[in-house]
Amino acid sequence: MAQEIKKEQNTMSDWTPDSWRSKEALQLPNYPDQMKLRETEEIIRAMPPLVFAGEARRLKEHLGKVAKGEAFVLQGGDCAESFAEFGAIKIRDTFRVLLQMAIVMTYGGSIPIVKMGRMAGQFAKPRSSDNETKDGVTLPSYRGDIINSLEFTEEARIPSPKRMLRAYNQSAATLNLLRAFAKGGYADLHKIAKWQLDSTHNTAQAKRYEELSERITDALRFMEACGITGDQMPEVIRETEFYTCHEALLLPYEEALVRTDSITGDYYDCSAHFLWIGARTNQAENAQVEFVRGIKNPLGLKVPPGTSPDDLIRLIDTLNPENEAGRLTLIARMGAGNVVEKLSPLVRRVKEEGLTVAWVCDPMHGNVETAESGYKTRRFENILAEVNEFFDVHKAEGTHPGGVHLEMTGQDVTECTGGLYDIKDEDLSNRYHTHCDPRLNASQALEMAFLIADRLKEIRN
Ligand code: PEP
Ligand code: CO
Repeated sequence: MAQEIKKEQNTMSDWTPDSWRSKEALQLPNYPDQMKLRETEEIIRAMPPLVFAGEARRLKEHLGKVAKGEAFVLQGGDCAESFAEFGAIKIRDTFRVLLQMAIVMTYGGSIPIVKMGRMAGQFAKPRSSDNETKDGVTLPSYRGDIINSLEFTEEARIPSPKRMLRAYNQSAATLNLLRAFAKGGYADLHKIAKWQLDSTHNTAQAKRYEELSERITDALRFMEACGITGDQMPEVIRETEFYTCHEALLLPYEEALVRTDSITGDYYDCSAHFLWIGARTNQAENAQVEFVRGIKNPLGLKVPPGTSPDDLIRLIDTLNPENEAGRLTLIARMGAGNVVEKLSPLVRRVKEEGLTVAWVCDPMHGNVETAESGYKTRRFENILAEVNEFFDVHKAEGTHPGGVHLEMTGQDVTECTGGLYDIKDEDLSNRYHTHCDPRLNASQALEMAFLIADRLKEIRN
């Protein structure tokens, strides 16, 4: 035991916010102007943190409950936030559909939902290729608005450090509005019927949602009739907790937002409450893993289909050496049809090793395809199938299906095919706005929530 603790102290004493710099770093841009990069890092280092350590600790507690089977995670938002698509309406609509989904799942599944937005910082994108070729012209790939611009010109694709400042400012403004929505009355359960989105108004889910909100409103009236009113009304009914998360990819930015918590003396990456390691940068010896292992935020790790049980155990040991509940969430993204074969051995091994993790399903990133029209899309039926398979695996293994991680928006986009409105390949061009991967629209997201609620209910019964 003493020896184990010593080993742990030794490894952590190696860590500093910049120790990642001596490791191999994949997916980072080559900034031509290194001086500007350093100047920008200094500016961000002097900025206020976007989140507080105490909030990240509270989220970790909630995720600890998920790991123990007592709560369920809903993580959702854009694949990539963008400077152009920034505005109060978009933030409100994504927040609102996440709230609706959470209510549907809490009510149907009788389980608390931990809500996290891929918002207020989800800007940097890993790419499968360094270059993109269009009509015979080859340029560096777009890597997210925090790095370069989507526009297909040589100039636009040059990585510019200045963009980090704009991303920081946009994140601060987004977080400010999210906090106001969560704590300022918008999320009050008494307003549940008003959260209806215009774009879902006439759908079957909208009717199901209306019925559910009537039942909840009745329950609240009953509580009021029993004398639970005004200030006695528990906070949970008037407010909600909402957390932010993004991929820990662009390390110069993340490092510049590391702060020492004055209460515990620990390091936190104050760019978001929760940071995850993406599928392309999950090498235990590389820079991104090195960076996150020393911060105390709750962490996520994407688990793609090629992951072997041994690799996974090694990563878990690196990221959660003390086996703390809530520290690590494994986000499996296997692709529909692959989950039973690929996920079962991993779930089994983690359980055998006695490791405490939360298991979340990302049914988006294993299900990307190119439509005949040339658009990158995902079929809603495949997304649903992967979620169902995820629930099946956990049922078979006797483990807890801990949550879902979705790319979605409150807008009425046409990016994923299928769903109740049965979006077809030829409809994709109508409202295809994503800066990266195709997202579920509001109606598809709500449909997903009802399916999950049914699967959660099945576990309770
Ligand atoms: C993402 O979540 O946007 C992403 C790129 O996922 P992954 O790393 O799992 O491919
Ligand atoms: Co994506």
